[in-house]
Amino acid sequence: MTLEELKNRIKEAADIVEVASRYTTLKKTGRYYRGLCPFHQEKTPSFYVDPEKKLYHCFGCGAGGDVIKLVMEMEGVSFMEALKTLARQFGIPFQWGGERQSKEDVLYKILEDALSLYEREFWKKTRGYSYAAGRGISEEIAKELRLGYAPQGWDFILKSLGPKYSPELLERAGLVIKKQGGGYYDRFRDRLIFPIFTEYGRVVGFGGRAISSEEEAKYINSPETPVYKKGRVLYGLNWTKQHLRKEGKAVLVEGYMDFLSLYAAGIKNVVASLGTSLTQEQAFLLARFASEVFVNYDNDEAGMRAAARAVPVLFSAGLKVRVVKLTGAKDPDEFVEKFGPSSYIYKLKEAEKGVIFLFEHYSGQGREVGVKIALEAIGNIPDPIARRYEVGELSHISGIEEETLVSMLESGVSGIGGRATATLTPAEEQALALIGENPKEFLSLFSAREKEVLRQTRLSYLLKAAEALAEGREIQDQELKGTISRLSFKGRKTEISPGQIRKNLLKYSVALLLKKVQRMIKEAEREGDSEKIIELLRKKQELIKMRS
Ligand code: UTP
Ligand code: MN
Repeated sequence: MTLEELKNRIKEAADIVEVASRYTTLKKTGRYYRGLCPFHQEKTPSFYVDPEKKLYHCFGCGAGGDVIKLVMEMEGVSFMEALKTLARQFGIPFQWGGERQSKEDVLYKILEDALSLYEREFWKKTRGYSYAAGRGISEEIAKELRLGYAPQGWDFILKSLGPKYSPELLERAGLVIKKQGGGYYDRFRDRLIFPIFTEYGRVVGFGGRAISSEEEAKYINSPETPVYKKGRVLYGLNWTKQHLRKEGKAVLVEGYMDFLSLYAAGIKNVVASLGTSLTQEQAFLLARFASEVFVNYDNDEAGMRAAARAVPVLFSAGLKVRVVKLTGAKDPDEFVEKFGPSSYIYKLKEAEKGVIFLFEHYSGQGREVGVKIALEAIGNIPDPIARRYEVGELSHISGIEEETLVSMLESGVSGIGGRATATLTPAEEQALALIGENPKEFLSLFSAREKEVLRQTRLSYLLKAAEALAEGREIQDQELKGTISRLSFKGRKTEISPGQIRKNLLKYSVALLLKKVQRMIKEAEREGDSEKIIELLRKKQELIKMRS
């Protein structure tokens, strides 16, 4: 079978009505199904699915295509990924002649093999099993989350998988580590294993919880590999995405155990960011499944700071945000253990609105600081109505009149848009570090067209700053100046290349701009200005191309 034939077979087998129903509610009208368009905001349904021709089309925004395109657009994945997803969902073997297995496919296979081995060890009911049992993890949950055990010793994986795969490949999969003097050893030893999956359920990495209290590192995680990009994965999403969609709400926690305990307690709309700094990509991923996020990081200084940093990142993805404050327990895991699920649900109900949390968190440094940072975060919200609503909240809590806040917001809270670091997204931080280090290199990353896109979003300040520095001018905004110098002093994370910075910024700014264009389309629709609509749709197409 050729790829073309496989594609046709998948299109044939995939039920486009079922697929589209994941993104919107469809009603049968004649031979079509109709619903609210998932690609643009609308009040009357103009999104049509034709089950016979297997096509969709929106008469409002012009989006349209076949089931593969639908998955690509809705899930933001490549053609191949969309094809694979559909193949898996509709039970078609993803194979075609003439093509070699991709390099990634080998890694996926290795990781799946390793997971099976770890699982087998776990169910031998030795140290891993006892540890899990001691922490109150039921067999049912252990099975569902596919917990494993990496036994003691240095070469369990090397010995078991060595006959099948070279040590170089095992290293690429993140399972073994190269020794200084030659040779390899297992990364995970005597640890409870939490497999990490993509949202589609493919294992891409592991977290290992120390069993012995003598271990220095409580958790060891897989490194970044060609198939595991930490900033793009949310732990648990594969099990919980349909719950997120159903509820429209997600609880965001820090750790494996937080996820596990909430999930086991029946709070199923949960995901974990693993580690504390939420990336913009994770936020966008979340926004595909939920519209509101309850951030529930650990109940300590670091957790609160991490929550404060997450709020603007989540806002940027168009999410509503609430921050949960626990009392009497250090994290969600401990909280449900001590007080039970219903007390936890009560805590969710009590969770503070994102803006109010920010204001209160930073007001310790003075009311102005609280207002400023909350306002900067509000500036990230793509939807003007939502932005206006949050301004209302901030006005209420800070006692500053709405008009004053609005005009502060409009004039850009500070200078050319230099922003307090607390509200910088990780992509911006890395960009600013590079700008301080080498502004010319930063500018050379983007084509003229791409710069144009950046300039139309709030990220324009990055270009302005880089241009000023490249031409040997001073940056006027003192705060921004300080931020750049501090970040470039701290240094860029070496694993993040300039190419990656470019990609992150483009992805982010294209997403911001798409939202803007979408709003303008809606406006033009209201005004019945068809010329403008066409022009905007063209612009939208161009942006969608840039994204891929
Ligand atoms: P915590 O230290 O809060 O651990 O780290 P925890 O989730 O409460 O775990 P238990 O209950 O002690 O077993 C939260 C998350 O941060 C990451 C892990 O993802 C962890 O779940 N982490 C923590 C590491 O990656 N390495 C570490 O050494 C510690
Ligand atoms: Mn914790």
